[in-house]
Amino acid sequence: MSTMRLDKYLSLAGIASRTETSKAVRGGEVLVDGTPAKKADMQVDPDTVSVIFKGQPVTYRQFTYILMHKPDGVVSATEDGREKTVLDLLPEELRRIRPALFPCGRLDKHTTGLMLLTNNGDLSHRLLSPTRHVDKTYVFTVKFPLSEEDVTALEAGVDIGGYVTAPCRVEPDEKDPNERGGSGRITLHEGKYHQIKLMMEARHNQITSLQRITFGPLVLDPALNAGEWRMLTEGEVAALEKAGG
Ligand code: URA
Repeated sequence: MSTMRLDKYLSLAGIASRTETSKAVRGGEVLVDGTPAKKADMQVDPDTVSVIFKGQPVTYRQFTYILMHKPDGVVSATEDGREKTVLDLLPEELRRIRPALFPCGRLDKHTTGLMLLTNNGDLSHRLLSPTRHVDKTYVFTVKFPLSEEDVTALEAGVDIGGYVTAPCRVEPDEKDPNERGGSGRITLHEGKYHQIKLMMEARHNQITSLQRITFGPLVLDPALNAGEWRMLTEGEVAALEKAGG
């Protein structure tokens, strides 16, 4: 691999933002090959360099993994002629990395919540494979409260237009007598296009909001506001690898 700036290296490794790196360099807290770095923009070779950031050795990752809180109104594609995409929410530096980042799976334009972006095509493929059964949990609101029959039918599987959904888990919230609609959580092991929307429609109901809060071992980080993102931790990457089998 060719050389790159130290601050870029630390940002891609998920260790620190450029601003954090500049601060740590000024404080003498970044060692490059054993010597305190003088400048955040010094060139390093990711293949051979040894960096210690605030006492912690840094391991450079072959792939990049980003946990995003997808906001409403943004499409989960890499490019779209008209609409803003999840990639547009990332800084230029991350949009330019190769192999390029892409969203692992899709969320509808108006669905918010946990979105994994990565450039590890092989792992993404494994996580999305129907045979892996990576659970995805969503918080939903619907126009009408769910009846017990609705819950039973949704859990057993409903016809969403030529396809009967696989068994899933539905946990409706305790009904608030002041609320006319319904709400709850649904956990799917598969991910057909518009699946939850169509499942509710099959019960003559209508999704009014949908947020994904888990994807396999990943949980939507409450510290991230809609539109914000962070790199996955080492632990999260290891858990994903395990979930991908
Ligand atoms: N099901 C839907 O209907 N929409 C999503 O975005 C995800 C699951």
